[in-house]
Amino acid sequence: MSYSSDHLQRFLAIATEAAQAGGAVLQRYWGQLSDIQQKGRPGDLVTEADKAAEVEVLGVLRRHLPDHAILAEESGRLGTNDNPLVWAVDPLDGTTNYTHQYPFCAVSVGLLIEGVPAVGAIFDPVRGDLFRAARGLGATCNRQPIRVSETDSLADSLLVTGFAYDRRETADNNYAEFCQLTHLTRGVRRGGSAAIDLAYVACGRLDGYWERGLSPWDVAAGVILVQEAGGQVTAYDQSPFDIESGRILASNGPIHSQLSHELAQVKPLERFIPKS
Ligand code: IPD
Ligand code: CA
Ligand code: CA
Repeated sequence: MSYSSDHLQRFLAIATEAAQAGGAVLQRYWGQLSDIQQKGRPGDLVTEADKAAEVEVLGVLRRHLPDHAILAEESGRLGTNDNPLVWAVDPLDGTTNYTHQYPFCAVSVGLLIEGVPAVGAIFDPVRGDLFRAARGLGATCNRQPIRVSETDSLADSLLVTGFAYDRRETADNNYAEFCQLTHLTRGVRRGGSAAIDLAYVACGRLDGYWERGLSPWDVAAGVILVQEAGGQVTAYDQSPFDIESGRILASNGPIHSQLSHELAQVKPLERFIPKS
């Protein structure tokens, strides 16, 4: 089934309400955390702010759209498996940053239609920036249209990436890619929030982003933002993006092939290949 722009507008308004409701919780807990726990691997934290923000986001989605399914980081899958409409929710993307009061984090609320990002709202509770997009309706920051950068060479680009929590367990840890692209560009940032990384590519503050080991809730909203801002989102090898793969290559477009080419060349750094 295809959805009219009226449907998508409505879903976007609901995504916005949900992201802002979660963001208000994050603003309240900022600098006030008393419950910081490790979820699984070292560094993978969850706090009372993650949980409370998720309750707010899910409350908004369920009130307006009780028939839609939800995939939320802290609650898992809610609703039937065959539902084509799934909200991918990260109530706090950048928990490590948030815990340290390093001001890069966001609430990310994205709608997948048949597994493909269609609507997204990302709210940065520190700066108060609200990024929004829906398929065919454009992308905005604080209600003003945004566009990707025009940078057309890696040498002039500023990139961002991240390192998944399993990085000590796998040779596929992104360290070699980070070195290679740092060598060839103006720099590679490690922002610590995939949602903000994608939002910044969408508004031209960054030229490209790649990462592996991601979950759908990390990128669902950001993917549609980059696409609607005129950018490109694919797998590393430029084949179609698959949200279940955990891998993403997002850019302004002109540097996409160069980035893909460099990622294909890289061999893992010996020193960081785990001993089996
Ligand atoms: C993490 C952030 C980080 C990325 C990790 C994610 P979390 O999400 O997006 O930038 O590198 O892979 O898991 O754990 O803060 O929600
Ligand atoms: Ca996340
Ligand atoms: Ca999270």
